[in-house]
Amino acid sequence: MKFVVEEIKELLRKGAYRKMRRLDRPQASRTVIGGKECVLLSSNNYLGLTEHPEVKEAAKLAVDSWGTGSGGSRLITGNYALHEDMEQAIACFKRTEGAITFGSGYTANFGVIQALVNRGDVVLSDELNHSSIVDGCRLSRAEVKIYRHKDMEHLEKILGQTKEYRRRLIVTDGVFSMDGDLAPLPDIVKLAGQYDAFVMVDDAHGTGVLGRSGAGTAEHFGLEDKVQVQMGTLSKALGSAGAFVAGTRELIEYLRNKTRSFIYSTAPAPAAIGAALAALRLVERQPEIREQLWKNARYLRTGLKNLGYQVPYEDSPIIPVLIGHAAKTMQLAQALLEAGVFAPGIRPPTVPEGTCRIRATVMAIHSRDDLDQALSAFDRAGRKAGVI
Ligand SMILES: Cc1ncc(COP(=O)(O)O)c(C=O)c1O
Repeated sequence: MKFVVEEIKELLRKGAYRKMRRLDRPQASRTVIGGKECVLLSSNNYLGLTEHPEVKEAAKLAVDSWGTGSGGSRLITGNYALHEDMEQAIACFKRTEGAITFGSGYTANFGVIQALVNRGDVVLSDELNHSSIVDGCRLSRAEVKIYRHKDMEHLEKILGQTKEYRRRLIVTDGVFSMDGDLAPLPDIVKLAGQYDAFVMVDDAHGTGVLGRSGAGTAEHFGLEDKVQVQMGTLSKALGSAGAFVAGTRELIEYLRNKTRSFIYSTAPAPAAIGAALAALRLVERQPEIREQLWKNARYLRTGLKNLGYQVPYEDSPIIPVLIGHAAKTMQLAQALLEAGVFAPGIRPPTVPEGTCRIRATVMAIHSRDDLDQALSAFDRAGRKAGVI
């Protein structure tokens, strides 16, 4: 296995070697990294629910009632009443006929895309879609056509060339994970109608965050009944782990029978489902948590712009601070950490070459003090790294 050592050397040489940072405290508005307390601006725990007493209590209660594991796949021995309660709650939240849960967003995407399309079909996928979608497309054996990011003319042109395919699936992130921008869903569903395609939205970052009741991107645009496959995760705003697809009763029945990552994988652990269920109830009951998230996001975004950073105008809790060059970006991330803020630098292949950035994410639990400290760190670190 000499290649392993050689590949690692090559990654180091290219500056593409990935390292994990260890957190020594949980995901609150501040955490401890390398013995130093810092404002946490890197978590997808948008509503701060991983530390919410009701959510933690529900996880403990689920363990007391159902044990620590599910013991098998949903179709064999792992189907607890708790899983079915969760699916009903998701269907209610999304106002669909049904829902199906998965162990993670990654396995949901790659399994569901494989289940929906096959040889003889075509998938049209936004070029900035999440890697789990990319992998699902690759594994599906369908023809994969990539359209330029949110470019509806390009999507229409490709759709016009797909008449000979049996099924046409358009798949997109609802909120793009590295830029925080929204998919142009009204245009996408219109084109889908014109070209007899169906639409799948990955709402990992929209669930609990967007829409009047937090139900996500489709609700934000009032298009709940036009997106046939609504995927979301339990791992981000819902503060747990796992994922779901919501849709018609027939779709859910189909996915239960056809999705390999559902059929051949142990059912999600009770603690994860119990926690997510309590988080979902909080999203429904306490819209003020979501409102606080939006206030915080606007405050940080405006502050960063005022400091002279290049921050796109999208209104989202994901705030990409564009730097461009990889080495400069990593230098800024390090300077930020030294100044008491953890906001990671993102490089290719996660983002396109030349668009390296600091990906700052805001949480509802950040106080004004946390955000002011973060802004002052961005000011000092940006000058030190020579980017503002
Ligand atoms: C857009 C998107 N889809 C899917 C996933 C995968 O979800 P999970 O982390 O639950 O596997 C992520 C998370 O990283 C994501 O950002």
